[in-house]
Amino acid sequence: MTSVGIDAMEIWTGKLVLDLPNTFAPVKGEDPEKYTKGLGLHTSSFPDVYEDIVTMGANAAKKLMDRKGLTPADIGRIDVATESAFDNSKPVSTYIAGCLEQVYDGDFRHANKGERKFACIAGTQSLDDAYNWIKAGRNRGRAALVIATDTALYERGDPGEATQGAGAVAMLIDEDPDLVELSTEQGYGSMDETDFLKPNQQFPSVDGKRSMQVYLARMREALEDYESVAGRTHPDLFEYIPFHTPFPGMVRKAALLGFRHMTRDTDIEDDLEAEIGRQPREADFETWDDYEEAIRGYMDELKTTEQYRDWYGRVIEPTLDISSRVGNWYTGSVHIARLSALIAAADEGKEMTGKQLLVGSYGSGAQAEIHAETVQETWLDEIEAVDVDDQLAARTEISFDDYELIHDVHNHEKEIEVEEFTQPEAEFVFTGWGRMNERRYEYVE
Ligand code: CAA
Repeated sequence: MTSVGIDAMEIWTGKLVLDLPNTFAPVKGEDPEKYTKGLGLHTSSFPDVYEDIVTMGANAAKKLMDRKGLTPADIGRIDVATESAFDNSKPVSTYIAGCLEQVYDGDFRHANKGERKFACIAGTQSLDDAYNWIKAGRNRGRAALVIATDTALYERGDPGEATQGAGAVAMLIDEDPDLVELSTEQGYGSMDETDFLKPNQQFPSVDGKRSMQVYLARMREALEDYESVAGRTHPDLFEYIPFHTPFPGMVRKAALLGFRHMTRDTDIEDDLEAEIGRQPREADFETWDDYEEAIRGYMDELKTTEQYRDWYGRVIEPTLDISSRVGNWYTGSVHIARLSALIAAADEGKEMTGKQLLVGSYGSGAQAEIHAETVQETWLDEIEAVDVDDQLAARTEISFDDYELIHDVHNHEKEIEVEEFTQPEAEFVFTGWGRMNERRYEYVE
């Protein structure tokens, strides 16, 4: 059976950076530790005046195509996942293809293009679409380009403002992949929810605290569903578990829940019994509230145990590094979590070939999905080629006033002229609107 998965990936970060504890928190009158310790965020990326979801996506895709020596003829499918689209009809993938056609010989005339929407999980759904297309034998030997690109902005003053970010992830999906093979087994947890939505508006309506509960509930259901097809999970089976990371503090909660679920009725629960007792069982309680309270008590103790802390430090913490430096990239977020983990493995000199990742994606509205990935023999070459640290270090720092200007520049309701903060070089830039209100782009040498 053909193996299909991610052959290579590249990122493109928004070129501006805001220091959350030192610049943002003081103006908001908040304790900087709410950011560094509570949310787990240090800095976040913002797009410069000439950047948007198209430029970031096209720039990430060009890096990928150049590095892998691809031309448009090698690509049979371009799927863009975003929840920041500016057009209800013309997909962002057509804009990105148009950009790329400015710099490559040939065109994407015979590539199938689309746009996937289901909040942050759309990036993973696009991977699925590409996987299924290749597995069905419809790709004619060509690969798929999946691009997750977002400008995650909230209304000023909304609690979500603390978790903003902007960037794109481009992934090449192909047969015999060089990075990770995707499992056929998947699990879903999906319900009609109103935790976070954008009903024909640019900035989201968010029920922040509820959104966190919905994330955890759907993720648990997805894990149970995954286990129903792939068999029981166990913490020792997975080298890393990258989760959708709106902010690292969210993953702290998801990881604890996941660990409790995976260790139930296992050797680890037995080992922990003397220290914190066995996990509460629903059948032993008269009411659901009593059971929940007992679970909360167990989890509070579980997170202080050496076994849990050791596992978290090895399997979860390495997935959070990029996120803590860029904020929420919505559709790209779980994919930078995977990348963070593999960069950490490379830095530690870990042998990853054949190792398993368990990947937990989430989109508000709401749906979670869990699948496994197997790391391929050539993973290290792929990971060493991605210049995450260089890109993040090259960002230009902005003041709080600059941040507000940039927020206004990217607010579709406002029309303001602001001088760009950085000089574009060898990249696609937004140049203005055409006669049908389409957005226009060009490549700057
Ligand atoms: N020192 C240490 N920790 C501190 C602290 C301090 N001085 N001050 C606060 N904290 C901790 C809090 O205890 C809290 O941690 P716990 O949840 O573990 O208790 C954390 O920092 C955040 O503090 P608050 O809860 O007071 O923060 P808030 O009320 O301003 O809102 C939020 C947090 C609800 C996540 C808000 O940022 C928000 O609405 N974000 C957008 C929605 C979101 O990201 N939801 C996540 C799930 S939905 C999803 O994943 C999809 C998506 O991408 C949007």
